Amino acid sequence: MNQLAASQLPANHLPANHLPAGGPQDIFFPRSNPVPLPLITRADGIWMWDEDGNAYIDASSGPVVSNIGHGNKRVAAAMAKQAEQMDFAYSRVARHQPNIDLSARIAALAGPGYERVCFSSGGSEAMEIAIKFLRQYALATGRPEKRKIITLFPSYHGGTVLGLALSGDSAMDSFIDGMVTPAEHVPAPFQYRIPPNHTAESFRMACAEALDAKIRELGPENVLAFVAEPVGGLATGAQPLMEDYANRVREICTVHGVHMVYDEILCGSGRTGTFLASHAWPNARADIVVLAKGLASGYAPLAATLIPAEMADHLASLTGFGLSHTYAANPVSCAVGLAVLDECERQDLFANAAAQGAYLKERLEAMKDRHPAIGDVRGRGLLIGVELVADRENRTMFPASVSPTDEMRILGLKEGLILYARRTSGGANGDWMMISPPLTITRAECDDLLTRFEATLAAFEEQVAQS
Ligand SMILES: Cc1ncc(COP(=O)(O)O)c(C=O)c1O
Repeated sequence: MNQLAASQLPANHLPANHLPAGGPQDIFFPRSNPVPLPLITRADGIWMWDEDGNAYIDASSGPVVSNIGHGNKRVAAAMAKQAEQMDFAYSRVARHQPNIDLSARIAALAGPGYERVCFSSGGSEAMEIAIKFLRQYALATGRPEKRKIITLFPSYHGGTVLGLALSGDSAMDSFIDGMVTPAEHVPAPFQYRIPPNHTAESFRMACAEALDAKIRELGPENVLAFVAEPVGGLATGAQPLMEDYANRVREICTVHGVHMVYDEILCGSGRTGTFLASHAWPNARADIVVLAKGLASGYAPLAATLIPAEMADHLASLTGFGLSHTYAANPVSCAVGLAVLDECERQDLFANAAAQGAYLKERLEAMKDRHPAIGDVRGRGLLIGVELVADRENRTMFPASVSPTDEMRILGLKEGLILYARRTSGGANGDWMMISPPLTITRAECDDLLTRFEATLAAFEEQVAQS
């Protein structure tokens, strides 16, 4: 068991007047945050080590980022080679090969309809590019009234002001109020916590029909886009959209002339077992798909907005899409992206994600028999959410005074497990942990992770029983 020394407590646990200038990034987080943060000095595969040599399994790949695992020497070498050969070339003044090669590679993996790839540095930026592209396309094609966006509630689409405006999170309402127009929302098709008088199926189909009603209410001519995650991230605890739901919302968007955008920032790049999570539904393709996180697996900042050639080339022949960023298609990031995709292929990581994900899910499901705090286990591939409940029979959520995500994270550290989860929407929709290790995980490592997770859960249940 790991011992968390007082010296490992991050600076945000010190009183403000004791803080030296500078500090780690978490200096900005709430000082009341009780979760200690280990100082990590080394990482390899699914493992991380702190300054005292304590080992941890990176059970959530950071915030679902490290798809190919840590310390990959091939990727590090490709990165160094590119930096030595040609570190930077700005897209408005020069072209470079890693950009050309990576866009061709991603377009081939994504398949027909996603021929143009616009690169940026992170998920929020790539999401903004998707919306700005569609808005510019609407203006250039004589549909200036199209500006309304519909997203799911709850959802998360980024931390920039537009990202927060797109996201469905009631905790952010007062923040964005008066600054930007928030997106319109329709209910997320949760399959565990469903209203009375509904089955899981009837509820998700009612959620799909809510999109139709919302578009009619707003006027189809005013609606620019519907944005959804094929498999949810933290906002829904890995709730996947189901195929019948996806097919129906695709049909609704097509009928009303509304663009459909999949936010695959977290669930894409192979994590669910296919390059795009939405590849699971061939009849429910989006117009635009957004990737980030696992695309460069944390080795470099990289995100991509996938756009059909038909739209990108049409817009280029009209006004062009003139909004770009300094670090768009950064050569080192593109070289990393290529090396990460090489590793995915060489190690057959998408297939491994499907196989190990199915195993982890089955074992977590079986853990329910021993642990009443597990309400639901859901997700696809190596994107798994474990919903924690105060009372399984009634699916009762924990009261506001208990923060299961923080408690599990603290207890997990003691078991050598770095777990990522945070309470979203103030816990109003439930509490869940993300089990999303690197796609390189082996069967033996899955067993190790499960043992540590079960010990963490047992300690949490004991703590709750004593409180
Ligand atoms: C689904 C989803 N969309 C958008 C974002 C924003 O991406 P980034 O943090 O890279 O800006 C995230 C990040 O967690 C996410 O999970």
